[in-house]
Parts: sequence; C-alpha cells; structure tokens
Amino acid sequence: MERTDAMQSFESIFGAKAEDLFTAAGRINVIGEHVDYCGGKVFPAALNLRCNVYARKTGANVIRLAFRGIDGIVELEIDKLDDYRGLKIGNYQAGVAYYLAEKGVEIVGCDLFYDCTVPFGSGLSSSAAIEVATAVTLCEYAGVKYDKVELALLSQKAENLYAGVNCGIMDQFASAMGKKDHAVLLDCSTLAYEYVPLKLGDYCLVVANCNKPHNLVESKYNVRRQEVETALKAIQKVKDVKCLAELTPKDFAEVKYLLSGVVAKRAEHVVMECDRVKKAVDALKVGDLEELGRLLNESHYSLCELYEVTGKELDTLSALARKETDCLGSRMIGAGFGGCTISIVKKSAVDGFIRRVGTAYAEAIGYKASFYETSIEDGITVEKL
Ligand code: GLA
Repeated sequence: MERTDAMQSFESIFGAKAEDLFTAAGRINVIGEHVDYCGGKVFPAALNLRCNVYARKTGANVIRLAFRGIDGIVELEIDKLDDYRGLKIGNYQAGVAYYLAEKGVEIVGCDLFYDCTVPFGSGLSSSAAIEVATAVTLCEYAGVKYDKVELALLSQKAENLYAGVNCGIMDQFASAMGKKDHAVLLDCSTLAYEYVPLKLGDYCLVVANCNKPHNLVESKYNVRRQEVETALKAIQKVKDVKCLAELTPKDFAEVKYLLSGVVAKRAEHVVMECDRVKKAVDALKVGDLEELGRLLNESHYSLCELYEVTGKELDTLSALARKETDCLGSRMIGAGFGGCTISIVKKSAVDGFIRRVGTAYAEAIGYKASFYETSIEDGITVEKL
C-alpha cells in the first residue's frame, strides 16, 4: 500500500491525520533453523517486507487498532490489557502493551493503522514485526528511552506468554536489530551478535512462498521444543551442558546412545545445524558462495529428514530450485510446515528461475507459489509524518 493511501485510510477511519510512522521488519534466516531455542547461533536478516504502523497519540484511555484489508476497529482498553488473550486480531498488540505496562511504561492512548506487508503465515515473521513495531510505537508515545534488544525480548515474552507460542528470540531480534545489507550472527545463548555483510556478488537471494494453507504450525512447533528439551535432559545425565548447541558433532556422537527415535533425530539436527552455521558464516566471509549454497541444501535435508518440519510443498519448491543450473542452494526458512524458501540465484537468471520453478511448482502441487522482491533493510524505523 502506498503511503498516501495508508494515510488516507487512517484519516477516514479515525477522523484525524496520522502523525507518525513506526516500522519493524519481517526477516529471512540465511541458516541456523530451529536452533535459537537450543542456545545456538542463527543468521537472520531484516527485510523490506515490514509491519508499518501509522499512528496518532490521542491520550484517551484506549488503543484503537485498524488494519489494511480488514473492516472495523479493535479497541484495547488500557486498564484491561490482560483481557485480550483470546483475540484473533490484536492479541499481539495487547500482549506487548500488557508487558510494557508491567515494566512500568505508561501506556498512552493512540490510534494505530497497521499496513503489514509481511505476508501472514509465510515464515517471514509477521508476528514479530507486529510485536516489535507496536513496542516501538508505545515506547515512543510514552516518551521513554528504549533499548532495541530489550524490546525484542519483551516482544518474545508477549508471543510466548500472551499469544502462547513458545518461540525463540531469533525473529524479534532480527526485526528490531536488523541492519541494511547485513545479516546478524546472533548467539541465542548470550545475545552477543555481529553484523556480517550479506555480499553475494553476482548472486542474490530469492524468497518464495509455497502458499501452503497455515495449519497448526504453532502446536507442531511447541512439540518440537518439547522433544529437544527431552534430548537435553537425557544428555545432561552424563554431560555438563546448558544447551544442545554446546555439543560439537563429536560430543554428540559420544552421547547419542542415550537417545532414541524422534528425540535422537531432533537433537542430531540441532547439533549439525549449529556446525553448519559456523561453516556458512566462514564461507560467506571469504566469498565462497558455492559452499554456502551446499550448506543451505544440507540444512534443508536435515529439516526434512531429521527435524521433519518441511512437507511436500517446501520440499518440492526447494528441489525445483536446486535443479536450476544458476541456483547454488535452497532451503526452507522459519518454523516450517509451510511458508517460504530462500534460494541463492544468479542475478541475471532470476526471471527465468521464477518462471520455471513457478510453473513446475504449480503443476506438481496444484496451486501457485509466490515470489517476493526483497532487499535487506534496517530493523526498526521511526519517522514523523
Ligand atoms: C520460528 C520461531 C523462531 C525460530 C524459527 C525456527 O520462526 O519464531 O524463534 O525458532 O521458527 O528457526
């Protein structure tokens, strides 16, 4: 949606002009999937697909929410912020406001119009973008200084405890802390981070959505978390580790006998994926894109066979990408079970890539994939209108 259209919508819904624009980014993750909640390192980057919040401070005792493409207004009464857990739309905003208030931030009434260009259910973290953008808005209107890492943590808490999804810190961190043209190498056990230029030379990342209907992703995700916790507890009986990410592949080989069935497979994915993150960052730093692509493929196979979070749609989409001569590697990103893939594709070959992969995918699956024009941008932006 163009900015002028969004501002017009704001005015016709709320009867006054928007005064500020706060945004937070959706994200991709280059590599390091399903390891953030195991203390591993992840390597996400913030996107031009974002949650845009057009805003006006009212000082009333209510936060009024409106959304592009959805009729009506959702009202959150500031002294009843605990009451909105069941909302289908507006629960992320209410959760963020609730936990900010709990921290002592004065929540100021405002009108907010959400133009979220991160497709919902795409694995590009629309929920984190909504949470972080809302947190920035409410802090700015309360006139408090905020630390972006603190906002990411508070947003994660809202998602965990208010919306009931037991996610790790990757998405909210990338949404808040992303930097233009860089990926963030984030150690999820310490929150130490490093920006690494996402320099792909003649290549670029193509983001494709398999468009599988969103189905029980949150509950399947929570099951995976329980499985890796079971693995960790078993290993802790013989090894002094705080998280699975502390284990090298060699350490894991020594303790694998303690695990069986899916629990063993899940833990093996985590340990090997952590190892791949290290190798992938090294490869990127020296410009070895072939190696980076190979590691992306390995990551996908592991998410398919060991972690079992892909499904036929994501497997088909990434396999079709891998068949292309100008594609160095492809994998699913995010929680999985649907959502997006990223592929490293030669810039000059992108149009043909999208045409061929798109056609073959629609033939195989029966509906189309979507391909997005993406760029890597800053996480949070704040602007007076
Ligand atoms: C979702 C979660 C993240 C992370 C990924 C998988 O996006 O929100 O915390 O666990 O899945 O890597």
